[in-house]
Amino acid sequence: MQLVVDNIAKSFGIHSIFKNVSFTISKGEKVGLVGVNGSGKTTLLRCLLQPETVDEGNISYESDLRLGYVQQGFADMGAGSLWEFMLGSCQDIVKLREKMARLETLAATTKPGAKLEEVLADCKNHT
Ligand SMILES: Nc1ncnc2c1ncn2[C@@H]1O[C@H](COP(=O)(O)OP(=O)(O)OP(=O)(O)O)[C@@H](O)[C@H]1O
Ligand SMILES: [Mg+2]
Repeated sequence: MQLVVDNIAKSFGIHSIFKNVSFTISKGEKVGLVGVNGSGKTTLLRCLLQPETVDEGNISYESDLRLGYVQQGFADMGAGSLWEFMLGSCQDIVKLREKMARLETLAATTKPGAKLEEVLADCKNHT
C-alpha cells in the first residue's frame, strides 16, 4: 500500500469534521472523493498533505510517494488547459521529463565519443 490512513479524526474547535476514517490507496489506483459542500473533503486532503494535523489516528506513506496538490477552484487557472493546470502541482516531475526529452534528443544526435558517453551517463543518472 502506498498510502495508509488509519482511523483518523479531525475537528475545528468543538465542530467534528470527521472521525473513524480509514482507507488505503495502492499504486495505480485512481480515487475520487465525493461529498456535499462543507462535508470535509478539502479538510481531509489537507490532512493527507500534513499528517501531523490530524487529531487522532495515523497517516503513513511509502517513502518514495510524492504528493501533488492544486487549490480548490479555478480562479488561478490562467489561459492553459486543465491538464497543464494540474501539472502545476508537480513542477519538479515536469522539469525532469523536459530534461529527459532534451537528453534523449541529444543522445540521438550526438556522434559516438566522449560527448555521447557524457550524455548517456546523464540519462542514466535520471532513471
Ligand atoms: N480552518 C478552518 N477553521 C474552522 N473551520 C473550518 C476550517 N476549514 C474548514 N472548516 C469547516 O469545516 C467544514 C468542512 O470544510 P471543507 O472545506 O473541508 O469542506 P468541503 O467538503 O471541501 O466543502 P466544498 O465542497 O464546499 O469544497 C466546513 O464546515 C468548514 O466551514
Ligand atoms: Mg473543498
